[in-house]
Amino acid sequence: MKTRILEPTAENIREAGRALSEGKLVAFPTETVYGLGADAFNEDAVKAVYAAKGRPSDNPMIVHISDVKQLEMLASSPNNDVYELAGRLWPGPLTMIVKKVEGIPDATTGGLDTVGVRMPSDEIARALIDAAGCPVAAPSANISGRPSPTMAQHVIDDMSGRIDYIIKGADCRVGIESTVVDMTGDTPVILRPGIVTREQISEILSKDVEIDPAVLRKSLTDESFVPKAPGMKYRHYAPEADMIVFSGRRDSVEEQIRRVKKENEDRGLKVGVILFDDNDSEEAARKFFAELRRMDAEKVQLILAGALSGNDEVGFAVMNRMLKSAGYNVQNV
Ligand code: TXA
Ligand code: MG
Repeated sequence: MKTRILEPTAENIREAGRALSEGKLVAFPTETVYGLGADAFNEDAVKAVYAAKGRPSDNPMIVHISDVKQLEMLASSPNNDVYELAGRLWPGPLTMIVKKVEGIPDATTGGLDTVGVRMPSDEIARALIDAAGCPVAAPSANISGRPSPTMAQHVIDDMSGRIDYIIKGADCRVGIESTVVDMTGDTPVILRPGIVTREQISEILSKDVEIDPAVLRKSLTDESFVPKAPGMKYRHYAPEADMIVFSGRRDSVEEQIRRVKKENEDRGLKVGVILFDDNDSEEAARKFFAELRRMDAEKVQLILAGALSGNDEVGFAVMNRMLKSAGYNVQNV
C-alpha cells in the first residue's frame, strides 16, 4: 500500500476526512501523541487499524470527537460528572470511559459495554474529525509495543506502507497519552495517568477520585513494589535496547548511572542515558518517547534512565511510562 503523506492544509484535511468516512486509515497529530484513525462505526476499518498496528484485538480504542454533542452518539446516558468534566477539560488530554450505546462495533471497544471518549485540543485533529463527519477511533499510531509517536517522523517510520494517509503536524505538545478515567461508577477511577491529574478532576467534581490499583502497584510509590518484576508481558512502549531505571536521590542516581555506563562501554556496549530535569516533569513527558526512539535509531544497546524523584502527578504519569518501557527493571540506589 502506498501511504500518502499530507501537509495539514485545509484542502488536505478535507481529503483525509473524506477518506476516513470511506473506511480508510489516517494517522493524525493530537496534543498528546499521534493517533491512527478510522471511522469508529465502521467495523472493517477498525479491524484494519488492529492489523496495521499488529495489536491484539481485545484492547479497546479511544473514540475521538470534535464536539460535545457527539458524546450522545456514543455514550448511553452519561452522568452529570461526565458533562462537568467535558465542560471544564475538553478539548484536552482526557479520555472518559462511559457506558456505550448499542451500535458501536465490538471491534472498536474490544467487546466491552463501555467506550472511551476524548475530544482532542489539537486543531488539526478536530478539523479532521469535523471533515470525516463521524467519531474517529484512534489508538496511538505506533506498531504495537513500540514507544508512542510524538513526531510525524515516528509515524512515517512505523506506518509507511501500512495505512492510507499520514497528516504531518508539529511535534506533540504533551508527549504522553491522555489521562484515562472510568466514569461508569459513582467514584471516578483513573486507569491511566496523564497530565490531567487526579487532583484536578477531584477538585472540579468536589469528590474523591481513585487510582486503579493496577497503576499504583506498578509504581515506585507502592511499598510492595518488586524491583525486577518478572514477565515480558509488561513490556510496553519498549525500546530495542535493554533498559534500567535508577531510582533514589538524584546525586546517587547520577553517580550510579556514570558507573554502570562506563562499565558497559568498557565491555563494548553502546549505552544511552535518559536523565531529565527533576523539576520539569512536563518537559520529561514531552521528550520521553522521542528519546527512546532516538536511541533505537542510534542502535543503543543499553538505556540507563533516572527516575523522576518529584512527587507531582505529571512526574507520576511519566514514571508509569518509564517503568513499563523498562519492563519494571528498577535499581534502587
Ligand atoms: O492520548 C491518547 O489517548 C492517544 C491519542 C491518539 O488520542 N490515544 C491512545 O490510544 O493512547 P491507545 O489505544 O494507545 O490507548 C488507549 C487506552 C488503552 O490503555 C485502553 O486499554 C484504554 O485506553 N481504553 C480504551 N477504551 C477503554 C474502555 N472502554 N475501558 C477501559 N479502558 C479503555
Ligand atoms: Mg498506545
